[in-house]
Amino acid sequence: AGARPLEGRTAIVTSGPTHEPIDPVRYIANRSSGRQGHAIAAALARLGAKVTLVSGPVTIPDPSGMTTLHVETASEMLEAVTSQLPTDIAVMVAAVADWRVVTSADQKIKKQPGEAPAALQLTENPDILKTIGHHAQRPQLVVGFAAETQNVEAYGRAKLERKGADMIVANDVSPETGVMGGNRNRVKIISAQGIDEWPDLSKEEVAERLAALIASKLSG
Ligand code: C5P
Repeated sequence: AGARPLEGRTAIVTSGPTHEPIDPVRYIANRSSGRQGHAIAAALARLGAKVTLVSGPVTIPDPSGMTTLHVETASEMLEAVTSQLPTDIAVMVAAVADWRVVTSADQKIKKQPGEAPAALQLTENPDILKTIGHHAQRPQLVVGFAAETQNVEAYGRAKLERKGADMIVANDVSPETGVMGGNRNRVKIISAQGIDEWPDLSKEEVAERLAALIASKLSG
């Protein structure tokens, strides 16, 4: 324990968005800078955990002191995550795109003058958190995120159940909060024990607190 309570533990963290190609020049994605996920990976590593960060396309640098696997799509992210099992801790922070185009085009789709725009046929992406939460090699502690613009608590609670997570970090990402792409975050920690509301903190502070909470859950 002491300053490195996660010494000897392994952790997988997902971060950033996924990009789902439409054609070679276009994609579908959720907004995500990767700042919160990368900060959590770094905080877990500082507490002694051996961390693998699985990152979608982001513009921030790889954190030091860990292995970073770079992926593009949700399917690649799922494969990278499962390749790292078994692990003690999984924190799924990535803003995974819910849908992908059934068959992405090999060539750039051209605008046809006078014709209706191309219709995209979408299919659902794998849910990485849900897969890990119900996996035969389920990590001891599974943490998910819930970015919502309304009913943050109710949706968070539902997600805890459905995804097989031990903890959901719920935040309100309405545009007026400035959370998306910003420096700060205001989260609620939802678990079977109830809801804990944290004050407005920097993303680094949220990461520090979450890593400490994870360490205390694993030791208690
Ligand atoms: O269902 P929703 O996307 O709101 O759930 C959010 C949580 O689930 C986040 O922890 C996110 O990383 C994870 N997730 C995932 N794979 C998906 C969708 C969400 O791991 N395809």
